[in-house]
Amino acid sequence: MWKHIKSNWQLIIIIIVIVIVALTEIMKAIKPSGKQAFTAMPEDSTWIPPSLFTDNLLEGEEREMVIYGEDIIANTSRYFGPHGSVAPITNGMNCQNCHLIAGKKSWGNNYSVVFSSYPKFRDRSGATETVYKRVSDCFERSLNGTAPDSTSREYKAIYSYIKWLGKDVKKGEKPVGSGIEKILYMDRAADPIKGKGIYTAQCQSCHGANGEGQLSLNGISYEYPPLWGPHSYNDGAGLYRLSNFAGYVKSNMPFNQTTHSNPKLSNEEAWDVAAYVNSQPRPKKDLSKDWPDISKKPFDHPFGPYTDGFNETQHKYGPYKPIIAKKEELTKK
Ligand code: HEC
Ligand code: HEC
Repeated sequence: MWKHIKSNWQLIIIIIVIVIVALTEIMKAIKPSGKQAFTAMPEDSTWIPPSLFTDNLLEGEEREMVIYGEDIIANTSRYFGPHGSVAPITNGMNCQNCHLIAGKKSWGNNYSVVFSSYPKFRDRSGATETVYKRVSDCFERSLNGTAPDSTSREYKAIYSYIKWLGKDVKKGEKPVGSGIEKILYMDRAADPIKGKGIYTAQCQSCHGANGEGQLSLNGISYEYPPLWGPHSYNDGAGLYRLSNFAGYVKSNMPFNQTTHSNPKLSNEEAWDVAAYVNSQPRPKKDLSKDWPDISKKPFDHPFGPYTDGFNETQHKYGPYKPIIAKKEELTKK
């Protein structure tokens, strides 16, 4: 027997290898398929942002501008925060805090449709807005500051980056996962008291007991950005509307534990925590020029006057369904 094995050892090894390979293949085939493995792109998105690693057509000065623009979106405070190297004109937040992965993340308020859809008419200003105007809006509201000049190298870099990101999106197209998720309305008003409980349990560990966030060790940017207080977005910002806040948070928070297809909060929890955070003190903006046609105010714009007869409290917290129904009725007339 031993002699046999010795003389045929090569053959035996080959047989063993074949058996192992066959067994692993069989195991793979019979294993229940279960959930798909995690891939870089969520399965329900239809947009793949371009990559600097594969885009060989982007060259020279334009490539440098795109790279600089991406860095400004990701590390805005380094350039424009209270200790910014270019100008101290913002509250120290980064664009990326709300436009995740520098505006590349699906369901993370991404920039996929910006370049293809501007200039466009917007009811908030009652005018046709350029990309520059829209970017300035976020500087003045979300970053509670002032915008860099349209002729500055920094603004040109931001523009180049936004243009490059949206280069494969055709006019009128809206890839799935662009902007912020619209979540279902509740039949009741959003409840700040319930929201406080959710905040304490799910958000406070990073964003702080007073919503103040936490600075990085370098003291220049935030490790965890503030959600209210003097360094947060002002009451003219997009996130101050409960629908935007709730939709953003449902798909993305708590950070790194949440995806659009696997959220941690229910719709109700997202609405309630939005109500709590947006009931806390924050900087104010002069909004007297917003919504020149007051009938165009969104259902959750919390500042009157309105044409629909509902008060500011209901516009802020809901229930929204009656407001939306009334709006449809009024526009039909
Ligand atoms: C506090 C959160 C926040 C920060 C910080 C922020 N934004 Fe925004 N931004 C928003 C929200 C909310 C919207 C509106 C989304 C909507 O209405 O669907 C928006 C919209 C935009 C849009 C238009 C998107 C579109 O598809 O029409 C651009 C462009 C933009 N932001 C650029 C910037 C830039 C540049 C910065 C940094 C200077 C910045 N934002 C910082 C929250 C923020
Ligand atoms: C594990 C830490 C962590 C937890 C927990 C967490 N966040 Fe965040 N949050 C972050 C980070 C980090 C960012 C900025 C992301 C970036 O810049 O890439 C952020 C950004 C935000 C923003 C946009 C920026 C701003 O400051 O306005 C909002 C709104 C927000 N979080 C709300 C919440 C809410 C509500 C909860 C609880 C349901 C929550 N977060 C839980 C880490 C966390």
